[in-house]
Amino acid sequence: MNIRLAKVEDLMGMQACNLQNLPENYTMKFWMYHAMTWPQLSFVAEDRGRIVGYVLAKIEDPAEDDKESEIHGHVNSISVLRSYRRLGLARKLMLLSQEAMASIYKAEYVSLHVRQSNKAAIALYRDTLGFEVAKVEKKYYGDGEDALSMRLSLKELS
Ligand code: ACO
Repeated sequence: MNIRLAKVEDLMGMQACNLQNLPENYTMKFWMYHAMTWPQLSFVAEDRGRIVGYVLAKIEDPAEDDKESEIHGHVNSISVLRSYRRLGLARKLMLLSQEAMASIYKAEYVSLHVRQSNKAAIALYRDTLGFEVAKVEKKYYGDGEDALSMRLSLKELS
């Protein structure tokens, strides 16, 4: 198993993994935009040439009209193929991305959205990584499900 920075050549494999694992899917233009704009933040788990897990992440700049807002990372999507789960891959992918957000971009915190029914992902974020729920976003998803908006401070890493 090789866990490493995602390259442009990995994007098809990352998209295939996303299609198998999640109802939130994205055009290749979206994957490419992230890889080109924040090339240090997305990582893959590769097994014998196959992408079996990924994390896709970006940086949100502070809003110009809001002096209180802080530069922060945002995890758009993470998933691991079913037969590779509970091996610690998602934890490692998240930690690599969080470290890069803090060290390269001086991000103050990392945010993400997760379906409130997604027990596995919520356990990963809250219990393993230390995220907290910042707010509940009502009907965030296309099918009307609420999202938990979660955050983790990166101050200890920067
Ligand atoms: N049930 C309960 N806790 C879980 C589960 C589960 N099914 N899966 C992971 N966890 C928690 C546990 O605390 C686990 O530690 P442990 O194994 O020592 O008990 C910890 O998370 C770390 O688990 P990993 O092995 O690193 O997680 P894994 O590689 O299996 O990936 C993931 C977890 C990404 C949620 C996987 O189940 C998956 O791909 N699910 C489908 C896609 C998905 O839901 N992605 C997240 C959507 S939200 C977003 O993308 C921002």
